[in-house]
Amino acid sequence: MGKIRRHFDAQFGLADDDLDQGLAHEDRGNSPADGFNFWQFRHFNTVAVSDKFGYVPDMSREKNQSIEDNPPSGKASFGFRNVTRREKTRLVRDVFDTVANRYDVMNDLMSGGVHRLWKAELIRRLRPDGDMALIDVGGGTGDIAFRFLKRGGENVVVCDINTEMLSVGRDRALDHAILGGAVWVCGDAEALPLPDGCADAYVSAFCLRNVTTLTNALSEARRVLKPGGHFLCLEFSSVAAPVLSKLYDAYSFNVLPIIGQAVTGNKDAYRYLAESIRRFPGQRDFAEMIKDAGLDNVRYDNLSGGIAAIHSAWRI
Ligand SMILES: C[S@@+](CC[C@H](N)C(=O)[O-])C[C@H]1O[C@@H](n2cnc3c(N)ncnc32)[C@H](O)[C@@H]1O
Repeated sequence: MGKIRRHFDAQFGLADDDLDQGLAHEDRGNSPADGFNFWQFRHFNTVAVSDKFGYVPDMSREKNQSIEDNPPSGKASFGFRNVTRREKTRLVRDVFDTVANRYDVMNDLMSGGVHRLWKAELIRRLRPDGDMALIDVGGGTGDIAFRFLKRGGENVVVCDINTEMLSVGRDRALDHAILGGAVWVCGDAEALPLPDGCADAYVSAFCLRNVTTLTNALSEARRVLKPGGHFLCLEFSSVAAPVLSKLYDAYSFNVLPIIGQAVTGNKDAYRYLAESIRRFPGQRDFAEMIKDAGLDNVRYDNLSGGIAAIHSAWRI
């Protein structure tokens, strides 16, 4: 059986000491009443889940134009370029295909490990508990899901459009003896292969910047959340302080692509990273979009001076 077909049926034993070290356990909130059993996914592998839901990512479908970058009609932004929507989906997939194997090392290198603190903060706000059904959208190599499981969560669907990233994530889970609790699903944030109202919480870390039409992804977030469900998004954002902003620009446009080239062999992927961050809406605009998608009690908090931000909202 190939690695893509490994299942996660057994109980898990957490051993990932390199994940968000030094964090205290937090109080655990109650999750809303459960109408959907996440465990119906547990025997499916990536391919089977797609089949089960009849889900094949439709790369040609025209989406509503998002307001985040205002490209010409029919186009989407890929970094600073405007490309067709189909092309954007393909280009984003190529980026993560080529960096998947070195993605985690690269995260540590380019952020000096700070991404771990941001992710830890995201999990602290999520307040995992054993009853919580979580969907981690753009979950990639599983960083958020592993932290969720380590902090008391037991049911997470890691959904990502890229099978390379999911495959690395599943291998990491096996390496750390995480044998249950997470199900790995190939799917698009804009058309989640999940039923309405199935999740107590929706998290997305550094994914929504990459989707072709952000408004579609946000309405999907609302759709899959139960009433009372929690939406959390960790994403790169806008740096307010002019000095920090200049330093950050210099670093991300000049240094990052060089590190990216050295570590992953793909300079362009990290140029895209820097550009896509600049094209993503700022904190307030993104909060407005979340509200427009029908989520309530929207708030955001800056991390590291706005280099990243956590947006939180609820489905009422
Ligand atoms: C920067 S990585 C973040 C991975 C992980 N959440 C983390 O924080 O380490 C972005 C992920 O989003 C995924 N992605 C991009 N577009 C997507 C889409 N439309 N639907 C689902 N996943 C998507 C990519 O394949 C990639 O794995």
